[in-house]
Amino acid sequence: MALTAELGRQLQLREVGGILLQAATVDNWSEIQNFEAKPDDLLICTYPKSGTTWIQEIVDMIEQNGDVAKCQRAIIQHRHPFIEWARPPQPSGVEKANTMPSPWTLRTHLPTQLLPPSFWENNCKFLYVARNAKDCMVSYYHFQRMNQVLPDPGTWEAYFETFISGKVGWGSWFDHVKGWWEIKDRYQVLFLFYEDMKRVSKGPSEEPLQTQDPKCEIQKVVQFMGKSLDETVLDKIVQETSFEKMKENPMTNRSTVPKFILDQSISPFMRKGTVGDWKNHFTVTQNERFDEIYRQKMEGISINFCMEL
Ligand code: A3P
Repeated sequence: MALTAELGRQLQLREVGGILLQAATVDNWSEIQNFEAKPDDLLICTYPKSGTTWIQEIVDMIEQNGDVAKCQRAIIQHRHPFIEWARPPQPSGVEKANTMPSPWTLRTHLPTQLLPPSFWENNCKFLYVARNAKDCMVSYYHFQRMNQVLPDPGTWEAYFETFISGKVGWGSWFDHVKGWWEIKDRYQVLFLFYEDMKRVSKGPSEEPLQTQDPKCEIQKVVQFMGKSLDETVLDKIVQETSFEKMKENPMTNRSTVPKFILDQSISPFMRKGTVGDWKNHFTVTQNERFDEIYRQKMEGISINFCMEL
């Protein structure tokens, strides 16, 4: 019980630069900002609930040349240090990275303006995955219901207001996606879409023809990482990183996390893994209001991240 209370305190949300982050992360802020990324590092970047675990498993499968046993060496949370992670007395994400051989594959949910400067200075590679805001909201809502150390989301109606105001961990979806989209041509950024990875033929990618190929998104990651893999290995990665496989895999499904942190009887971590679940949650009024807010906040952005999927 004392442990739960202590964890709850560490993980409360506090603001840094106007963005809500976990309190222990804010306490550790100077260590995070002074993190020394190296030129060959790869940073997996996402807004929460955009398919982080999925892209991590894909990247690890690529790094291990499709060797499933090697990907079973540790739970996914431990394979790629989470740079803003802090939960004393456990080692922080920065400390974990510093004990691993470089080049590193790391992950973050930080918006561009809060990223440690060394990532920009060293021209690191950034792999960003964006997901339809409405599905992100739904996924985040269920995640906050089951995550016992994040604020209780309250009712769906209440959460709708919280999410659109950006008063959730890691801030506003709009600012996050817009921030990463706007810098993508100035740095080494591979910008992917959850919906394209799901092989929905009408994904938001600017290259619609490419989305017809089931392995296409994984192949883009392989190329971006400077690797080359046989078709058979690519096929294996497609199979092994399917929602169904990852839901059964204890190294990816968070089943090793204690119930007092993630209560999967409320909602599983690997919940649905679909495109368009927002239609089961949004009322017509909420949808109209959301679309109007989207239009205002994403003005000037050439791509529609909230396509009618
Ligand atoms: P849902 O809650 O909509 O099911 P993150 O890893 O960033 O926290 O994202 C979690 C979301 O990604 C969850 O969405 C989860 O089910 C989905 N997800 C995880 N692995 C997936 C996979 N292999 N295929 C599709 N979706 C996946």
